[in-house]
Amino acid sequence: MKAVGLYRYLVIDDPESLLDVELPQPTVSGHDLLVRVRAIAVNPIDTKVRKPKEIVEATPRVLGWDAAGEVVTVGADCSLFQPGDRVYYSGDVTRPGCNAEYQLVDERIVGHMPLSLSFEQAAALPLTSVTAWESLFDRLGIALDAAQNQDRSILIIGAAGGVGSIAIQLAKLVAGLTVIATASRPDSVAWVSELGADQVVNHHALTAEMAAIGVPQVDYIFCCSHTDDYFLSMVELLKPQGKICVIVDAFKPLDMTLLKAKSATFVWESMFTRSMFKTSDMIQQHHILERVAELVEAGTLTTTLNEVVSPINAANLRAVHARIESGSAIGKIVLSGW
Ligand SMILES: NC(=O)c1ccc[n+]([C@@H]2O[C@H](COP(=O)([O-])OP(=O)(O)OC[C@H]3O[C@@H](n4cnc5c(N)ncnc54)[C@H](OP(=O)(O)O)[C@@H]3O)[C@@H](O)[C@H]2O)c1
Repeated sequence: MKAVGLYRYLVIDDPESLLDVELPQPTVSGHDLLVRVRAIAVNPIDTKVRKPKEIVEATPRVLGWDAAGEVVTVGADCSLFQPGDRVYYSGDVTRPGCNAEYQLVDERIVGHMPLSLSFEQAAALPLTSVTAWESLFDRLGIALDAAQNQDRSILIIGAAGGVGSIAIQLAKLVAGLTVIATASRPDSVAWVSELGADQVVNHHALTAEMAAIGVPQVDYIFCCSHTDDYFLSMVELLKPQGKICVIVDAFKPLDMTLLKAKSATFVWESMFTRSMFKTSDMIQQHHILERVAELVEAGTLTTTLNEVVSPINAANLRAVHARIESGSAIGKIVLSGW
């Protein structure tokens, strides 16, 4: 089968950082589905896994953790899917990724893709939807019932990116929160407004802009960017008894004692926890993806796809990795076709 892989971990403008390779097609067992991959999205995790280091792989390492495709065969222990089903999923960062024509994935972290969407529109959604859903509803404990969230507000930092784009919709259209989104460029401001943000502030002057719009503090903060840079602002902008969820590594110690006076909650989200540790509730990611598909079919949620690049090959993937690495993506960039 065709695939894009790497032997060495190199800067993205090195033509050997991602290579076109031929690999044997994998065979299913247990809870795995064999999926024919039709479209993939690139996420910052791909570029972080690929970042330069002194390791050389004996066989090509395949990256990619966002896919839409068709089930080809199912393992003996599968009960959720059948051959021919159209599916979407992020996958497991400890296993080979979706930058390949065929991929094995545990059915407990897969959903039926919304049939009203194309493969490209569906591939934009899984990783970011699971991340945003787990952050808002599992980690921050926000009620799924909008009636319980009246007069409650959330600040989403870095809201025009892939995660923020779906988080705005879940927070506004599912949870009924007042959503303040951060964006710093005219295009990203327009994008987050279109997705439903009630107000938009520039993250490069966060506390001043929050004061300027008359919202000095919020109930929840979901930070999708530079945890270190925003930590002190988040402490200041949080209401007493409020909750903060972060998804980006911190590179220096964060002073948790600053949260004590407000009895604030600080929580991490990693969307790979459930698959990496095979937690007893890992099937929750199947349920999240099924629920997101229902919300798309109902017209509540919309795809966050912003651009399609074709075909899926090393040259195109290198170009998209470079754009994701620049930190300037708006919504999702998807690659499709072999
Ligand atoms: N823990 C997890 O499970 C998990 C899951 C998914 C993603 N992540 C991480 O979360 C981060 C966001 O992911 P993503 O897919 O949304 O990324 P993305 O799509 O690449 O985000 C791009 C957006 O980031 C914004 N941005 C750039 N610099 C910023 C800054 N200094 N402050 C605030 N916003 C800034 C930009 O908005 P403007 O152009 O408006 O500045 C841009 O639209 C990444 O670091 C990713 O690795 C973690």
